[in-house]
Amino acid sequence: MDPTRDNPLLRFTAFWWGLIAFLVFAALLAAIWMFQRDEPQSLEDAAAKVRYERKAMLDAEQAAILDPAAIEAAIPRVAAEIAAATPAAVVRPDQVVPGSETSKRLAEAPAADFSAVDAAPATDEPIDPAVMEIGKVQFMVCAACHGQEGQGGPIAPPLAGSEWVTGPVSNLIRIQLRGLEGPITVAGKEYNFPAGMAAMAYQTDEQIAAVLTYVRNSFGNQAPAVKPAQVAALRDEVGKPMLKQADLVKP
Ligand code: HEC
Repeated sequence: MDPTRDNPLLRFTAFWWGLIAFLVFAALLAAIWMFQRDEPQSLEDAAAKVRYERKAMLDAEQAAILDPAAIEAAIPRVAAEIAAATPAAVVRPDQVVPGSETSKRLAEAPAADFSAVDAAPATDEPIDPAVMEIGKVQFMVCAACHGQEGQGGPIAPPLAGSEWVTGPVSNLIRIQLRGLEGPITVAGKEYNFPAGMAAMAYQTDEQIAAVLTYVRNSFGNQAPAVKPAQVAALRDEVGKPMLKQADLVKP
């Protein structure tokens, strides 16, 4: 038998050397783990990382343009409006069967003419502050995308200084009733947001007229009021596919 095995002093130092070797090894592993920690574990993680970064950026940008209290106040109102809305049948051209009754009716329908709505009599009638109040409340929904001051943001173009906003009324009403798909050029800059703007036809004629009057007379914009009767005149636009810039009257 090895005599050192019986030497308690040697056994004691051997124990400590073993422990030190173990700790050095553990520290090495810990150091490797520290540096490797941020690396994506798989291709899925690598792909998700980009999405997380983009989401964080969007959240931060939206938080910067929107007051959380305004969203809190808008949610119950919008929910009630949507719940009270009656759904409208949508005719999508790509789903109409050639030669069917619907296709004949669409072919025979006269080309839409919005000049009656746009030919508003020139008046310098002052903007009604009560209408602006209704419009301001209604605008909270728009602000979620277009920003509290209509300055635009990561998911929608600006309304401030937009030629569409101060331009022909029929465009604005139809955008509310049918929604809008990019690309669209606003104040010389082209925008194309993947989600587009959904139709908001659940609003009443008065609400649409008020919110449009509000955006036409806020954020430095100035244009005559929109009347509920003008909205009513275009109600049969509801249910048609989302508009594209080419469907709009040139501002
Ligand atoms: C879900 C986000 C969203 C909401 C809510 C929204 N919009 Fe939009 N809006 C858009 C997007 C996106 C576009 C541009 C279309 C595109 O790029 O696909 C647009 C375009 C417009 C335009 C034409 C372009 C411009 O900037 O002048 C007007 C006018 C407009 N919106 C008004 C409104 C009004 C008024 C409301 C509220 C009643 C509203 N929008 C609510 C997303 C939104």
